[in-house]
Order: sequence, then C-alpha cells, then structure tokens
Amino acid sequence: MAVNLKGRSFLTLMDFTPEEIRYMLDLAHDLKAKKRAGIHNEVLKGKNIVLLFEKTSTRTRCAFEVAAMDEGAGVTFLDSGSSQMGKKETMEDTAKVLGRFYDGIEYRGFDQAVVEGLAKYAGVPVWNGLTDVDHPTQILADLLTIEEHVAKPLNRVKVVFSGDIRNNMSYAWMYGCAKMGMHYVAYGPAELQDQLNKDVIAKVQEVAKETGAVIEISADPAVLKGADVIYADVWASMGEEAEIPERVRMLTPFKVTEEMMAATENPDVIFMHCLPSFHDFETTMAKTQKEAGYDIREVTDEVFRSRHSVVFDEAENRMHTIKAVMVATMG
Ligand code: CP
Ligand code: NVA
Repeated sequence: MAVNLKGRSFLTLMDFTPEEIRYMLDLAHDLKAKKRAGIHNEVLKGKNIVLLFEKTSTRTRCAFEVAAMDEGAGVTFLDSGSSQMGKKETMEDTAKVLGRFYDGIEYRGFDQAVVEGLAKYAGVPVWNGLTDVDHPTQILADLLTIEEHVAKPLNRVKVVFSGDIRNNMSYAWMYGCAKMGMHYVAYGPAELQDQLNKDVIAKVQEVAKETGAVIEISADPAVLKGADVIYADVWASMGEEAEIPERVRMLTPFKVTEEMMAATENPDVIFMHCLPSFHDFETTMAKTQKEAGYDIREVTDEVFRSRHSVVFDEAENRMHTIKAVMVATMG
C-alpha cells in the first residue's frame, strides 16, 4: 500500500512502520540529490512553521529553518524566554493558538509529554526536535548517513553506542534499530543498566521480534567486535551539567579511542556523533571542566578527525531528513 503521512506528527520512530521510515529515508535521499542539483520545487510554498526551543540548538534549529526556506515556507523561532508557553499559558492553550497560525510545529524541550500534548491539541503536525527521552529526527539523519557510508542494507548493520546508555540518543537508537531490523548495542557502565526504563525495553524487544532486530545492553568490550558504527554522545546531556564529576568517573572507560575503533576488527568501521561533541579542550565547557580536574571528552580528537569519522556528513543530513519529515507530513 502507498505510504501517506500527510497530517501525521513525528514524535518518535516507534509511531511509524518500517515502510513509513523507509519512505522518509527515500524522500530524504531524493531531496538531497535535488538540492545538490539546485532544484527547489518549493513544495511548502504558502506554509508557515514555528520552532519552539526550550533547550539550545545549532543543527536542529538551522536544519528546520533552511529546509523550510528551501521549500518556500515561512519560519518563526521562539525560545523559552520569548514566548508565554509554560509560564503564563499552558501547553494546551499554546498548541491551540499556534495550530491556528501555523501549518507545523517543532518542539525541543525536556518532557516527552509536552511534545505529545502539543500534537494532541494543535491540529497540525508536530515534530519532536529532542526531548529527554528521544531524538527521532537525529536517528533519521543517522540512518541516511549509514546508507551513504556502509555498503550493507540497514538490517545487516551493527551499531554500538558507547557512553550514557540511558540518555535520549541511546533510546532513540533503540527505537530506530528495532524498527529497521538492525543490531544495536547500548555499551556502557553495568551500574546504569538498572536505570533503563523496563517498559520501553520490553516494547523495543517486542518490535525487534517482528523485524529481526537484535537489541543488546552490555558492559562487555567483546561487543565491539564486528561493529559497523561506533556512536558517541556527550556524557552529560543538556540540563545534566551538575552531574559531570560523576559522569566522568563512570563513563571514562567508554570514551571512544583509536583502541576502541580497532577492537571492532572492522577496517571500514565508521565513527558517528550527533554533535555537539567534546573532542578537545577548545570549548569553554571542556576548558573549565579540565581546570576543575575533569576530562569530559567522550571521544579523542584523533578519532573525531580520523578517516572513520563521518560526523559532518551526518550533521548535513539533519537538514535533508528534516526536510523530508516536513514535506511528508505537511507538504
Ligand atoms: N544534534 C543536535 O541535535 O544538535 P543541536 O543540539 O545543535 O540541534
Ligand atoms: N544527549 C544530548 C544530545 C544533543 C543533541 C543532549 O540531550 O544534550
């Protein structure tokens, strides 16, 4: 049956079938080729979108803005300091108002319930630009990047996520891999395994049974063998900065190094990262933490800059995949 996503919100990949995810990926490949060829069909002409950000962003905000402008849509950006939402107006009222002005709403914030609530009340598609438990537009970009760099179908690809296995990226990867029949390993401290949401893991394992995916949670370095992708993310996500000392203690053994890349025994292994990344001491945060005695780098500069690293292709693909999500759901 033909896929039709018009009017749908994009809150988590768990809401989509593998065929629907395939459709968005194919559309993204196509839109990327068209942009490279200088073709803009302005399929969103006459539409307007609003971007709500309660956390900071470079890629996600710019991806939505450029993607919308490429296709002829108008864009409004609102951060938490410049709207009434949450402080003087409820999420429900905000959604009802914005749904009358706009054809689509992006939301980045803390609680997944907020993006779900916006979708419930807005009457127009709502797109999740990151919450504490998911980052679905990032996974779509990551899958596109894997298809460009790994000479295998997705259902034969093994992704090892090394680090804070209970963060938004780790869960988002579980959803993406489960849906696309991939092999995912959340590789991180054994002491974190108990903190994983058991209902979510059960749901993911249920999907994996249907798609042939393998979802593993492990602290054993033997899982690195055969990885096609080593994936890293910051050790302390936005809003968790106070926990840096504890995170450094717990996650330093999971820093991505040249030794870890070699342990995959795959000469073609790629390194991926959603970015932003601490890979040197050139940022104020990495520098300040180093002065306080904490090395917060989740990956070495050698790996980040190595031939294995595809992080900037991945960043570019945020734009092409977000464009695909908007065109598919709102176009
Ligand atoms: N990867 C990602 O979401 O980047 P930003 O925080 O810059 O949007
Ligand atoms: N886990 C990170 C992802 C940033 C794109 C965070 O939430 O800060």
